[in-house]
Parts: sequence; C-alpha cells; structure tokens
Amino acid sequence: MDTVYEIIDCIAENQAIDAEQLDILLKNNDREACEYLYEKARTAAGSVYKNKIYIRGLIEFTNYCKNECYYCGIRKSSPGIQRYRLSKDEILCCVEKGYMLGFRTFVLQGGEDVFYDDKKICDIVYSIKERHSDCAVTLSIGEKSYASYRMYFDAGADRYLLRHETADEKHYKKLHPDALSYSNRMRCLYDLKEIGYQTGCGFMVGSPYQTTDTLFKDISFICEFKPHMAGIGPFIPHKGTPFAKENAGTMDMTLKLVAVLRLLRPHMLIPATTALATVNPEGRKKGILAGANVVMPNLSPQGVRDKYTLYDNKAYEESEAAEHIAFLAEELKSIGYEIEISRGDYII
Ligand code: 5AD
Repeated sequence: MDTVYEIIDCIAENQAIDAEQLDILLKNNDREACEYLYEKARTAAGSVYKNKIYIRGLIEFTNYCKNECYYCGIRKSSPGIQRYRLSKDEILCCVEKGYMLGFRTFVLQGGEDVFYDDKKICDIVYSIKERHSDCAVTLSIGEKSYASYRMYFDAGADRYLLRHETADEKHYKKLHPDALSYSNRMRCLYDLKEIGYQTGCGFMVGSPYQTTDTLFKDISFICEFKPHMAGIGPFIPHKGTPFAKENAGTMDMTLKLVAVLRLLRPHMLIPATTALATVNPEGRKKGILAGANVVMPNLSPQGVRDKYTLYDNKAYEESEAAEHIAFLAEELKSIGYEIEISRGDYII
C-alpha cells in the first residue's frame, strides 16, 4: 500500500485522484504529511500564478431571497434578519471606492431577489462597464433562465459564480427544499459555460450529510466540468436555519480539499473564502498556503455588512474589508505573496 506521501506525489503527477486516495488523504491527520500536501499545492499554484494573489471586490447588494435552502442564513423565512437592497447609485458608489483602492473585478452577489429583474441587472452591469471598461464584472445571483444569463452577458458581465453545493443528487435534496432541484442547478452551470462566462462552481465543506463519497463526486464533477473557478469554504451553522444545531466544517478539512483541487486543476481560480477566515483567524493565510490564489474582500457599505449573514459570526473586519487592503497586502507579504492589480483572469 502506498504511503500518504506517495499518494500525494501520484495525484500531483497525474492530476487525477481515485476515491480511495481521497479517503486516505482526508483521514490523514499527520501534520508533516499535510504540510507536504500544501507545499505541493503551492508549487502547482506558483507554476501558473507565481506569488500573485488576485483580488475581487465583493458587493453584497441584496439579502432578500425567495429560496429556503436549509443551510443559509438569508433564506426567505430566516427570522430576525433586517433585509436591505442597494440602489444602483449605491452599487456604483461601492465600485468607485473599490476602483480607487485598486480593484479591477467587482462581484455582485445577492440572494435570489425578484426585485432586481433582468432589466435592472443589465442596467447595473452596463453602467459599471461603461465607467470602467478595464474591469471585469462577476455576477452571483443564483439560478436564472438561459435567456436571462444571455442578457446579462450581452450587457457586459464577464463571469458568474454559482456553487453547485453538492454533486450528489440525494445529498442535494437533503440541503434544499423540493422547489430547488439538482438538475436545474446543473443546467444553469452548463448554460453559463456555454454562453461564454468564466464560470465558478463550488461547495461547502462539512455540510450536513456530506460523506467522503459525496466529496469524491464534488471533485469528480469539478474535474469533468472544468470550471474557471471553484469556491469552497466550511459550512457554518446559522441560528435561524433548520441546520442551526449541526456541526461546522473544519479548517483542516477545507485546507486539504483546497490543496487537492489545486493539484488536480493547477490553473483554476481558488479563493481563500470568508467562511474559512471565519472559522479561524489564520484561515485566509492558510488557504493561500494550501494553494488558493484569490481573495474577495468586502466592498459593501459598512452599514449593511453585518446584515449579509449567510452564517453566524461572519468575519467582516480587517483583511475581509476592502478598505483595509493595506493590511491584507501586509498579511500576504508576510507569507511571501503579493496582490496583483488587474482583472485577474483565468490563465489558460
Ligand atoms: N455556511 C457556509 N457557507 C454558506 N453558504 C450559504 N450558507 C452557508 C453557511 N451556513 C454558501 C453557499 C452559497 C454561498 C453564497 O455561500 O455555498 O452558494
């Protein structure tokens, strides 16, 4: 039987993994072997992106949502949430602030809020691109029709993030009510890619009912779908959801999966997520040291940041906040990395 080290070498060399290898890696808690995995992942990231970290300014423009995902703190029936929507002017204001700070990608993220119809979304996207043609606009606003995705793309949207959440249909049903289906989620992702978006999928680590088997399906899906980006972060329970009493995912498990994904897909954009920074103050740095190459600081107005609560105790201070970009730069420098001021496109 191969040692953990041999398995890591084998995955790195072949850019492929089987279920048994994944199982062994996820069960391994030997520090040195984990460090070896992370080091290999850093080398893979460095071979494409050197020591550069891409930044994206995240604008959480609405916390209204028509869906009832069991894990999500902004689900429709979540009690005690103060709902907000940003106007077009407020969004453009966030963009201006971000542009001055050096951001060249803006991610518009929100719940599935019917208030923003296609016309409003297109107008916002168009207005950003009109002011800053050197910037990329990413949308992360959930499941839409092919026609809507097409319209946003034609208005200038460059990228779209839609986590697949889990690539196991039975698991999907345990995380979502009947109104949401695995097949529509997948349909959306394939539509986005076909239209020409740089497309991101992803999943939570440690979500209820997740197993090594479902994780293997997530990884296999990513290898087959070949997204430009994959966002993974630990599941963190939110008090107003059916999963309030479930356990959170761990940093270590997330780091192992970030590293495995990096070995399998050296070119893929992988963020060190806010959820990772929330479960551990060192999470962001450790994510990068395990092969992540993107960070998405928050550009939303101060007054709404604590209302976009997908999970409890969300980190929104220091390096999570866009205005503290100098702090983030220092943090990255301390581990040998630099922020890159550019759109930060996928390198082919
Ligand atoms: N914990 C961690 N991540 C969450 N998300 C939603 N709720 C939670 C939670 N409780 C993630 C989902 C979603 C993304 C925007 O945030 O994966 O796609």
